[in-house]
Amino acid sequence: MISSLKSEEQSQLQLVEREDIEDEEDLFESIDKLISQGINAGDVKKLQDAGIYTCNGLMMHTKKNLTGIKGLSEAKVDKICEAAEKIVNFGYITGSDALLKRKSVVRITTGSQAFDELLGGGIETLAITEAFGEFRSGKTQLAHTLCVSTQLPTQMRGGNGKVAYIDTEGTFRPDRIIPIAERFGMDPGAVLDNIIYARAYTYEHQYNLLLGLAAKMSEEPFRLLIVDSVIALFRVDFTGRGELADRQQKLAQMLSRLIKIAEEFNVAVYMTNQVIADPGGGVFISDPKKPAGGHVLAHAATIRLMFRKGKGEQRVCKVFDAPNLPEAEAVFQISSGGIVDAKD
Ligand SMILES: Nc1ncnc2c1ncn2[C@@H]1O[C@H](COP(=O)(O)OP(=O)(O)OP(=O)(O)O)[C@@H](O)[C@H]1O
Ligand SMILES: [Mg+2]
Repeated sequence: MISSLKSEEQSQLQLVEREDIEDEEDLFESIDKLISQGINAGDVKKLQDAGIYTCNGLMMHTKKNLTGIKGLSEAKVDKICEAAEKIVNFGYITGSDALLKRKSVVRITTGSQAFDELLGGGIETLAITEAFGEFRSGKTQLAHTLCVSTQLPTQMRGGNGKVAYIDTEGTFRPDRIIPIAERFGMDPGAVLDNIIYARAYTYEHQYNLLLGLAAKMSEEPFRLLIVDSVIALFRVDFTGRGELADRQQKLAQMLSRLIKIAEEFNVAVYMTNQVIADPGGGVFISDPKKPAGGHVLAHAATIRLMFRKGKGEQRVCKVFDAPNLPEAEAVFQISSGGIVDAKD
């Protein structure tokens, strides 16, 4: 009896509350609203087919992009943009309004209090958080923990939302989600149902998966997008110096999609990155490693975190670059229940 009561409570816990969804609806304006501004439904459908589901998302495309959509002439695109501008404000706002907008930022717990404090409360929505560091330093384990904690109610430092997971390395383990969900007192089956997962095999596939997300995110409340790792396929699909410029350009396009998703849907983007040897690091640096992706990646990430191994199960996270966080470190630990505070 008690156990069945408990499981009922647990399934309550993971349920994304309906009122919250309604509250959040004014975050973005559905592309359907263009119809009330005189755009015909057929043209709206063409936008949706191209992965544009909100007026906010529409304004993140250049006219060149939009006229590239089959069946949309320049004149039509102009009319569509004019109509969208009547629905959403894309001009200046006051500083106070900007502050109000920042209030919609949700911070999602990492599972470790020390780690959360380092981040000013957790992984933020409306931003890209990048984790790089040596192998086995906990980047993917944090991704798994966030898959669960994002679904916690906001009063419990969660995001009250669903999770999208793009896996380029084949290291997502759904069975890892189960003990992590149990640790947070949630129903593992329901938690798994609220994660959408895709394995990407080429950088093009990875990009197309991102395009497909707009449709899902405009329909259901997502709070987290994981890309583990963002760079791996680029390093495979482009080889040698000769292709570097092309690679960086394609990478920049992908990263630009990521930040747009974060801002369009108030989602936290958590992406992992690999480290590469840094021959320029000099002989005096014992372990010369730097994040891959060069300046393109450095500029795209809002918050850059460097992970390294500590003693035993302990791991250390250092804030490498962030607009409003001090350069400090936190020690955490990897447990069967995911990321936790270090024991000593
Ligand atoms: N159930 C578990 N309990 C405790 N520790 C675990 C558990 N599962 C994995 N780990 C630890 O997590 C570490 C692996 O971390 P993770 O896979 O996040 O590394 P990573 O930074 O993503 O590495 P890579 O660069 O290879 O992708 C291993 O050291 C492993 O011991
Ligand atoms: Mg990994």
